[in-house]
Amino acid sequence: MWMMGSLGRFMMSLRIIQLNQNNLDEAIALSQKVFSHEDYEKDVGVCLRESLELQSLEKSLRFVEPGSKKYRETRKTLDEFTSKYWVSEDLSKIAGLTGLAWSKSDRGKVWLGWFCVDPDYRGRGIGSRLLDHTINQAGRNGFREFRVWTSTLPSEREAQKLYESRGLIVYEKERIRKNKTRKQSYTHIYRRLRLTNVK
Ligand SMILES: CC(C)(COP(=O)(O)OP(=O)(O)OC[C@H]1O[C@@H](n2cnc3c(N)ncnc32)[C@H](O)[C@@H]1OP(=O)(O)O)[C@@H](O)C(=O)NCCC(=O)NCCS
Repeated sequence: MWMMGSLGRFMMSLRIIQLNQNNLDEAIALSQKVFSHEDYEKDVGVCLRESLELQSLEKSLRFVEPGSKKYRETRKTLDEFTSKYWVSEDLSKIAGLTGLAWSKSDRGKVWLGWFCVDPDYRGRGIGSRLLDHTINQAGRNGFREFRVWTSTLPSEREAQKLYESRGLIVYEKERIRKNKTRKQSYTHIYRRLRLTNVK
């Protein structure tokens, strides 16, 4: 179903739901399509699968006696690294993906993860809604700072305007020299947003 958005452009009847076993494969396919040119250390499919495993682990804590060895070990694993992802779904098709990733040692900082919209669905406000949703989730979950690791790669150009519009300021840049896989050098950009004012 289509309707006119308040911004005067067509918006889809879109819902944002948590990543789960039913939408996992489609979410992986979308993110691999979008991020296929990037040289990330970890494959996006691995990250998304791992996230669901960690969530099951967190749920399992409800049935473990607090203070027991198993409880402490599970808590330690979860404190080392946790992530949570959402997909935007339109008539059961996955149009976008977003996520949060954090570790206890990050002390209140949380990172945006694998944020993207299917090229066929871009320019319709989905990316904006997903980013707002993610920032809100970060604030509601008590994080103090929302961080983004992005770059000057042409494939991430559109995202920069969106980040600027949400007040995500650049706090660090890192020049990456060209290597075997990349013909031109580019720059990593680190952005952040203090979350004290997020409702
Ligand atoms: C960034 C991305 C998620 C935006 O998704 P989207 O659904 O097109 O976003 P929206 O429709 O909400 O547009 C958001 C803003 O992006 C900008 N934008 C979107 N498409 C654009 C385009 N083709 N050219 C220039 N700017 C564009 C606009 O400024 C728009 O703001 P507006 O509300 O003032 O028009 C999408 O382009 C994408 O997946 N990019 C590749 C992956 C990526 O870069 N991820 C971030 C990695 S750090």
